[in-house]
Amino acid sequence: MSQTFDVVVIGAGPGGYIAAIRAAQLGFSTACVDAFKNPQGEPSLGGTCLNVGCIPSKALLQSSENFHAVQHDFAKHGISVSGAKLDVATMLTRKNDIITKNTGGVSFLFKKNKIANIHGLATLKGRQGEQWQLEVSDNGKVVDTLLAKHVIIASGSSPRQLPGVATDNKLVLDNEGALALASVPKRLGVIGAGVIGLEMGSVWKRLGAEVTILEAMPTFLAAADQQIAKEAFKTLTKDTGLDIKLGVKIGDIKTGKKVVTVNYELNGEKVSAEFDKLIVSVGRQPNTVGLGAENIGLQLDERGFIAVDGHCRTNLPNIWAIGDVVRGPMLAHKASEEGVVVAERLAGQQPHIDFNVIPWVIYTSPEIAWVGQTEEQLKAAGIAYKKGSSNFGANGRALSMGQAQGFVKILADATTDRILGVHMIGPMVSELISEAVVAMEFKAASEDLARIVHAHPSLSEVVHEAALAADKRALHG
Ligand code: FAD
Ligand code: NAI
Repeated sequence: MSQTFDVVVIGAGPGGYIAAIRAAQLGFSTACVDAFKNPQGEPSLGGTCLNVGCIPSKALLQSSENFHAVQHDFAKHGISVSGAKLDVATMLTRKNDIITKNTGGVSFLFKKNKIANIHGLATLKGRQGEQWQLEVSDNGKVVDTLLAKHVIIASGSSPRQLPGVATDNKLVLDNEGALALASVPKRLGVIGAGVIGLEMGSVWKRLGAEVTILEAMPTFLAAADQQIAKEAFKTLTKDTGLDIKLGVKIGDIKTGKKVVTVNYELNGEKVSAEFDKLIVSVGRQPNTVGLGAENIGLQLDERGFIAVDGHCRTNLPNIWAIGDVVRGPMLAHKASEEGVVVAERLAGQQPHIDFNVIPWVIYTSPEIAWVGQTEEQLKAAGIAYKKGSSNFGANGRALSMGQAQGFVKILADATTDRILGVHMIGPMVSELISEAVVAMEFKAASEDLARIVHAHPSLSEVVHEAALAADKRALHG
């Protein structure tokens, strides 16, 4: 006998688990089916984000920053620590404890909201009357069959592989392996200077590895504002000490017993580099294998993502798709917002996401964050704009923290003064960017930010100064 639900959500990542909670809050009988198993082979909710993405990477980030600070920054405060040692096993245990707390939290929320928590791989099989049929299998065996009025697909994404190089998570690592290295490799190679390459490269560099990042594009962080990207390149190469090579053409990759050899071409020269570990971080691809799209005629786009409209509707009635498996940035907060929006649409509400106001953060040191359009995009669109910038170098709080690097730049419409983009590199800009997001959601002008009282001393004063600078009346510039 099949279990019947109003809503079945496929995937319990930040897209799926949030969609399930919101649907249940709105009174729908809801199930969430998730296939993820942790290294112990146990079901673990939370998807990529909680298990092998956002959260574990930030746990290691904090450990590596602490280790770096003890060795390099404490002395300036008059605090001397000798013989600081790294215990990678303890660092990984701390990371795993954080994962368990978070994933256990999702189980708790499922119970609290009376969501049926079903473990296994969900496959769409067909239609029975007004309902969709799904089969759930685990280790190749069918464990459940479900009927649902509405299906929300939130099956997420997986690392893209380089042709001819198998990821074994021993020598050649994807995000899972990069987050679980048992010791610090002496020579770490990274292919792809995107978000994962920079974040994970920085973590292992701070812990003592020599890190070489090989990037195909000649432009560094092409999606970011290029003034920010230039500053980031400078600090990540000079201060963090990453060796970033741009415009690289990767050739053969050979794995030996203990080393990986990467042959590549740079500026017409052939290079052969040996690494003790290699992270491959060349983007991610949507998870559609096993979903049964072909059984029901679910349309994919030319890049293999599930095709959806602006409201996350697929080509089939009552089937929706959200998060990494559909177009748009692969970000946890984008997935979650889409989950809320779809659940509310099912309940007859008219929610809306402004895709132009989704913040990006890259958790390097210093952090990089932005929202809205870059100068390059405004120029290409022929939009006249003005800009205001302010440096963290003059900010008392940043100086006290010993992190007075970077700047904030605000771009506003030349005529109306409406804020069009805000770009930051500096301390805790992952937090500061929220002020810009709120301002842009409320269609604020740069003058609005300039007239708001900002606490002193705080990092947010740099945002205030940048807004004043946009009107050529910076007080500290
Ligand atoms: P996922 O989190 O991928 O979850 C999908 C779930 O569905 C998985 O559990 C999967 O096993 C399951 N599934 C797939 N197919 C089926 C099926 N047929 N049946 C049942 N279950 C299925 N984003 C940020 O915003 N901030 C960050 O700091 C950040 N850091 C990251 C760091 C790393 C190393 C990585 C890899 C990613 C990071 N991301 C970050 C991206 C973020 O993890 C994703 O954007 C987010 O997890 C997408 O959520 P989702 O719900 O769409 O999919
Ligand atoms: P990415 O798309 O950010 O970067 C991939 C990089 O690899 C690009 O610079 C690309 O030019 C390069 N590349 C592609 N093919 C190559 C090749 N053959 N040789 C050399 N370089 C090559 O992808 P990444 O880093 O794998 O991360 C995937 C996604 O996960 C991100 O786009 C982001 O959406 C999400 N993520 C978000 C984080 C955050 O919000 N802080 C942190 C980590 C991941």
